[in-house]
Amino acid sequence: MDQPSPSLPGDDRPSTGSRELWGTRWGFVLAAVGSAVGLGNMWRFSYIAAEGGGAAFLMVYIVMVALIGIPLMLCELAVGRNTHLSPIGALRRLGGRGWVPLGFLFVAAGFLILSYYSVIAGWTFRYALEGIVFGFPSDPGAHFEGLASGGTAIGFHLVFMVLTIGIVMVGIQKGIERAALILMPTLFLIVLGLAIWAMTLEGAAEGYAFYLRPDVGELMNPTVIRQAAAQAFFSLSLGMGAMLTYASYLSRDTDLNEEAVTISFADFMVAFVAGMVVFPVIFALGLQDAVSESTVGALFISLPGAFQEMGGVGRFVGILFFVALAVGAITSALSLLEVVTSSIIDEFGFLRRNAAVAMGVLIALFGLLSAVSLDVLGLVDQVAGDLFLVLGALGLSIFVGWFMKVNPATELARGARPGLVRVIPAVLFLVRFVLPPVIAVVLLFSIRDAWDAFGAFFAGG
Ligand code: TRP
Repeated sequence: MDQPSPSLPGDDRPSTGSRELWGTRWGFVLAAVGSAVGLGNMWRFSYIAAEGGGAAFLMVYIVMVALIGIPLMLCELAVGRNTHLSPIGALRRLGGRGWVPLGFLFVAAGFLILSYYSVIAGWTFRYALEGIVFGFPSDPGAHFEGLASGGTAIGFHLVFMVLTIGIVMVGIQKGIERAALILMPTLFLIVLGLAIWAMTLEGAAEGYAFYLRPDVGELMNPTVIRQAAAQAFFSLSLGMGAMLTYASYLSRDTDLNEEAVTISFADFMVAFVAGMVVFPVIFALGLQDAVSESTVGALFISLPGAFQEMGGVGRFVGILFFVALAVGAITSALSLLEVVTSSIIDEFGFLRRNAAVAMGVLIALFGLLSAVSLDVLGLVDQVAGDLFLVLGALGLSIFVGWFMKVNPATELARGARPGLVRVIPAVLFLVRFVLPPVIAVVLLFSIRDAWDAFGAFFAGG
């Protein structure tokens, strides 16, 4: 089938043919922030920050976002907006056939990440609902084991996938954009409200101290630096064409540079403020040991336990917390499914509705594996959520820096305000000379970790 009215590389036409565009600037920004803000901000971030030396980690993380995250996001935005195509088509257009496999890697990553992301999102739905109906459990550990895999997990996973498919099916403006315009402000308000409430807790001060105490020794720790880089990719939804795909629905007059900064800043702020909720709560109840024990534990075991112990207020606050998580999860899932869906539309000429349903159902089915086994979930996370993203990020930075047929600086300058045009050469320098070696080092560690995960999986069964 025809691509929707292809514009040639470097073409200045504002028209994008039949491709749907975002209705408003804020629609795009909030949808992109919605993609970025998710389980990664409120769950992964707190625990990695705690392990990585609190404020010291925050500093390293901010440097990583600025030096690696924003330039990489600019790469995705430039490729997406220049081609008005989803990843596979975009790479073919700007790079030729040889780059198509990178597009497939993106789509595969989207498919795999959504398959288990949806299971975790299902847990958050379940906790929110349970909080409303019954209150939080008094035996959170056993309770979590009961709901994390098996029948309940499958049920909530399927509900979550149906919702995601339902929104993506409707389209960009009426589906994803409208959802983001409603859900994201709700999420900001909840997280902010919770942070204000957390200030009133006894023990909040120790929580803040633990979170914000700079453990300077960690500043130069290679593990912390690497984790900060990987967290930046995951949290900003980079390395698998999500931002690329969203940018393919942008008109030529948007300032990509400004948007990249806005999106990254908003993503950081939500993660930061979420930490200002999690740590006071944990410390108010003396649960600090549980935080760094396991990635899952901090959020899905300690927090419900804490909310339960706080009685009526805890129940109310806990419901809000899990609603915020569920909201973050769904707006992220939209972008994951959109990458897969738009690729099927562009490559095979499917109708959006059919593409979203067909791919969503396949992802839901594959996700059943993660819904019945936490080991599978962990393995898919390690391979797709870590290795594939880092590989994708490396490929994309090399592509944009060295191989793409259009000068990325030209695309970034389009619609940019004069002040920001001046930083584009610096961005390009980072993309060419800093990103590839830094990401390559991160990749080596990701390969090692994925290898270990495979070993553990097959040894442990
Ligand atoms: N950024 C999301 C989070 O923090 C997860 C996510 C959504 C994602 N879309 C993505 C991660 C694309 C990588 C790529 O939870």
